[in-house]
Amino acid sequence: MSADPSEHQGEHHVYDDIVEHDNPLPLWWLITLYGAILFSAGYYFHFHVFKTAMTPADELAAENTEAAKALLAQGKGAELGPDALLAMAQDEKTVKEGQTTFQQMCASCHGDQGEGKIGPNLTDKHWIHGGKPESVYKTVSKGAPEKGMPAWESSLGPRKTQVVTAYVLSLKGKNVAGKAPQGQEE
Ligand code: HEC
Repeated sequence: MSADPSEHQGEHHVYDDIVEHDNPLPLWWLITLYGAILFSAGYYFHFHVFKTAMTPADELAAENTEAAKALLAQGKGAELGPDALLAMAQDEKTVKEGQTTFQQMCASCHGDQGEGKIGPNLTDKHWIHGGKPESVYKTVSKGAPEKGMPAWESSLGPRKTQVVTAYVLSLKGKNVAGKAPQGQEE
């Protein structure tokens, strides 16, 4: 290639005294580009289509669930944070267990599927006392006695209170037809 760009009329372009050439892209650059495209396709099929590996988010959820279960096994339910509660709400066994408690203790006021009766619909996006994991836990454990919602922590104990809270969190967004929404949309 010539050192003098003016010999290649039409193959370069000057702007602000900067000469632009129409050179092919370097091989290493193209390899990086096509390599990245191939890698992304492989990554996509591995993690999202065939699910032959867990995504970091799945791994974190699984670890949180394990950690939450370990704390629960030691009777330390009240120490669980919002992440652990959400992880439990995605754990099938925990949700099943919470459902059993819900049927026994809560369904009379909140309906078999949480659709609401005397108590509010727990499957919509509206919350009187807040729909965040820690808010739902607080409502279930301390109740709203003046409004007819009993406090459950003393009768169920921390572990069952956490588990039934996880079940309530798993109902979020199911929108079962029932009592009209109450409180703020979240
Ligand atoms: C005797 C009836 C009754 C029972 C039993 C009952 N609840 Fe409630 N619950 C209510 C009422 C009424 C409210 C609404 C309180 C208010 O208006 O402030 C409520 C509110 C709630 C809320 C807050 C909803 C919101 O919109 O913020 C949650 C969560 C909840 N109950 C979960 C449970 C769970 C879990 C159980 C069982 C362990 C249960 N409740 C048992 C009557 C009941």
